[in-house]
Amino acid sequence: MTQTKIAVIGGSGLYEIDGLTGAEWVTVETPWGAPSDAILTGTLDGVDMAFLPRHGRGHVHSPSTVPYRANIDALKRLGCTDVISVSACGSFREAMAPGDFVIVDQFIDRTFAREKSFFGTGCVAHVSVAHPTCPRLGDACETAAKDAGIAVHKGGTYLAMEGPQFSTLAESKMYRESWGADVIGMTNMPEAKLAREAELCYASVAMITDYDSWHPDHGEVDVTAIIATLMGNADKGRNLVARLPALLGADRAPCPHGCDRALEFAILTQPD
Ligand code: ADE
Repeated sequence: MTQTKIAVIGGSGLYEIDGLTGAEWVTVETPWGAPSDAILTGTLDGVDMAFLPRHGRGHVHSPSTVPYRANIDALKRLGCTDVISVSACGSFREAMAPGDFVIVDQFIDRTFAREKSFFGTGCVAHVSVAHPTCPRLGDACETAAKDAGIAVHKGGTYLAMEGPQFSTLAESKMYRESWGADVIGMTNMPEAKLAREAELCYASVAMITDYDSWHPDHGEVDVTAIIATLMGNADKGRNLVARLPALLGADRAPCPHGCDRALEFAILTQPD
């Protein structure tokens, strides 16, 4: 058994979490540069927690400039075992409405201007991301959402786009009709891939703010419409997070899905 430490990476609208005992903002240095911000640490229901605002307090990092590698490395260095990503997204499904949450279990990575791996020079590794999220963590997020009275959809494919502009109508229709994506956002990749390389369990809670631009009865997506939904979503997100320590517990067995052993058969470089 090891000690659970739950990391929460908060997206747009979620810049801190409530109720931590011994709360302290700590600065962490990494070989990949500085993380998005200091990290808020403390305990909740007797479980160690770490909270990192993905865009930094004051929302200073765009999706393309978020230091994803430094963020994941900093959480690993702090001893985090589980990462819950909370982020805003658009929806490609009528039934997945603004205000609903989706526990994402698949990704289509369309980002192209970000550093995507810890490996490359000196040490080459190819981890599997066939199943990029941890089902055990996803189950806990679903239970927490239901207990908090949030309309939640278990399972969904998240299209990660580069941004910062939103999609064209043609792209929106293609992602929805041909590619089978359920939601769209700008931040979960390469975060999920890096978490796997760092052998951290990762779950993604996508909070729907809009119908992107495909929906004939809704106008094209803009930031004003997103912000209107974002604040309510952030309150719900905080409520969900507050329930996770009791569900996950302070003692942690090895991940039944092997997320914490992802590098076991992934490294090709010969040791010295
Ligand atoms: N974040 C929130 N809504 C979005 C959308 N429609 N497209 C990309 N990212 C988003």
